Amino acid sequence: MNFIITESSEEMSRKAAELFAQRIRSNPNIVLGLATGGTPEKMYAELVRLHREEGLDFSRVTTYNLDEYLGIPATHDQSYRYFMNKNLFDHVNIPRENTHVLNGMAADPVKECRDYEDAIKKAGGIGLQLLGIGSNGHIAFNEPGSKADSRTGVVTLTGNTVKDNARFFEKAEDVPKQALSMGNGTIMEAKEIILIADKESKAEAILKSVEGPVTEDVPASLLQKHTNCTFILDSAAAAKLKKESGRF
Ligand code: PGA
Repeated sequence: MNFIITESSEEMSRKAAELFAQRIRSNPNIVLGLATGGTPEKMYAELVRLHREEGLDFSRVTTYNLDEYLGIPATHDQSYRYFMNKNLFDHVNIPRENTHVLNGMAADPVKECRDYEDAIKKAGGIGLQLLGIGSNGHIAFNEPGSKADSRTGVVTLTGNTVKDNARFFEKAEDVPKQALSMGNGTIMEAKEIILIADKESKAEAILKSVEGPVTEDVPASLLQKHTNCTFILDSAAAAKLKKESGRF
């Protein structure tokens, strides 16, 4: 595992965007795995700036998002398709057909997930995967206890995640309780992984993921087994790791 510890959420976002930009420049046909949530918003804003001001070219890039809520349409302002359009796709020159987000309204969600796996394989696999981390150590919507080799499928959110995500909805009851999510096994097959985290609320999950045992109880700890994984953290998210591990 590699680490970049930054002073602020802004610096974390800039560093992550820089890394994505480098990989896109060196491989314009790259397949990216993308994440949603509060953490990547400023990183996407920086990628939009790099496109506008420095000509970063997305015209041959393909993307696959990690997850989507089950039962809400792409037009819903809390759907992850809506988030991606608003934060990135609407502002860069990526052909819309190159962007893939699981369909939360699919008539057959299991088939939707199977087809998504097939499509990723056909595209040659994910070249660079962006991840956030839940305060419970989840990656995508793979909650504690999900299998290390799980594939894209229908998952149930824990009470902890529903609570964490309630801030995006009017009422906690409005947060969908199920989602479609890439599996841990799917994520681990990406050639390179960047995990970003800011905020003190992530510090414990980061510590466990890095210094704790590799366990399905903390899905992000599975990343210890990945051969090309970098954590980009702000000082708040890195605080416990710095204190306990003595390596920084
Ligand atoms: P957040 O979510 O970026 O909104 O904190 C991250 C996650 O749950 O993976």
